[in-house]
Amino acid sequence: MKVLLCGEMDAAEMAVWRTALAAAMPEATWLDRDAAQSQANDVQAAVVANPAPGSLQGLPRLRLIQSLWAGVDRLLADRTLPAGVPIARMVDPAMSAAMAETALWAVLSLHRGFFAYAERQRRGVWRQHVQRRADELQVLVLGQGEMGRAAAARIAALGYRMAGWRRDGSPLPPLLARADIVVNLLPLTADTRGLLDARFFAALPPCASVVNLGRGAHVVDADLLAALDSGHLRHAVLDVFHVEPLPAGHPFWSHPRVTVLPHAAAATDPRSAAAVVAVNLRALRDGAAIVHLVDRRRAY
Ligand code: GLV
Repeated sequence: MKVLLCGEMDAAEMAVWRTALAAAMPEATWLDRDAAQSQANDVQAAVVANPAPGSLQGLPRLRLIQSLWAGVDRLLADRTLPAGVPIARMVDPAMSAAMAETALWAVLSLHRGFFAYAERQRRGVWRQHVQRRADELQVLVLGQGEMGRAAAARIAALGYRMAGWRRDGSPLPPLLARADIVVNLLPLTADTRGLLDARFFAALPPCASVVNLGRGAHVVDADLLAALDSGHLRHAVLDVFHVEPLPAGHPFWSHPRVTVLPHAAAATDPRSAAAVVAVNLRALRDGAAIVHLVDRRRAY
């Protein structure tokens, strides 16, 4: 089977992926874009990491697009994506575990005030705050997919009161009204874009905190800054941004109550993800069921 491997990666990243994929599926022939173009009639699958728009055109026998990214919002934004070719997103157990660790770290740090202590250290301030028990805090996880569920299980295991929300589930405002910490792990779709806006923040109790591990476009930045500056929100932990890298001079960089991560909450791990890709490519070859298919209408 001939497989196109392409996407937004530098040469070193590409080499790591090629090695991992070739080890997981030695019977496949892995082609870069130039090679795929010259053998366009033979390419049956594409394994992609946010490829440049248009990259998947002109492949008449393409039968599967396998994303190396969990979130397929940027892939689906390519208007030239061949219609009717199934798309699978990445569900990498190592990535879900890493995301759960980051969510847990953020919740624990917010609960125990460790971000505030780090800020006090910079100012040379020795002052303790009141210590609360984990079961006195309500954590709300937005998104009930692989990562939302993995994060919720880890957080619940530490004794926090947990609630989960999915877009087609129970109404959000009553859950927000009780949440001390909100962790966003929703997919980015037309329905969830801008969900974390002024109304959303106003629905939270005073001194709640927000952790965004989804996509930057889930948040209305100006509304988040206003909610922090008014004192209504205590802290925001942000891993994802409208523009990445976060532009120099953006107020998030220097805000004392914003913690910035460089889209590092959970990377796809080539070692485990290559095995996931191989399962789907072999299923394609054998006419078996492809897993983790994207519903183009739902957009995740
Ligand atoms: C990372 O953000 C991903 O979607 O894989």
